[in-house]
Amino acid sequence: MQVTAVYPGTFDPITNGHLDIIGRGVHLFDRVVVALLENADKEPLMPLDERLAIVRSVVARFPNVEVDSFDGLLIDYARARGARAIVRGLRALSDFEYEFQMALMNRRLGPDVETVFMMPSEAYSYVSSRLVKEVARLGGDVSGLVPPEVADRLRARYAATGRAR
Ligand code: PNS
Repeated sequence: MQVTAVYPGTFDPITNGHLDIIGRGVHLFDRVVVALLENADKEPLMPLDERLAIVRSVVARFPNVEVDSFDGLLIDYARARGARAIVRGLRALSDFEYEFQMALMNRRLGPDVETVFMMPSEAYSYVSSRLVKEVARLGGDVSGLVPPEVADRLRARYAATGRAR
């Protein structure tokens, strides 16, 4: 039986912590679908097309990873893709409450899909898309925390828009 997992998120932008989780997931599942939320309430810095292009390029080395976008309920998307699991990364205790609530809500909505939590390398335990954007916006160095392509794009974006955003 082929087991598919969905790894959902905003990925605004994808970080090396996300990539670390994907790199672990590909050994556990036959197929990992990285699913980008289309209409995020979070008002992403990067439009969906750009986030999709970046994620596609940085996961190209994994033959069993697919990149897609979704709207609406995650559980409906997971089922439509035939996924048995939803993968989420857990960095620290601070992630736990939100993730716990989401996992239990998703279990209530779709008991047939299991949420699987994975820990990234401790080297990325403090890395979040939010902090990466803040550091990049203020002119700090984010290399090593995100793929080089993401660092370049952040630099270019903030050079173009200044530090106001
Ligand atoms: O990377 P993020 O922003 O932490 O990802 C959050 C995401 C996309 C997993 C979550 O917002 C989500 O699943 N949204 C889809 C709407 C949904 O299903 N809501 C109910 C979840 S319990």
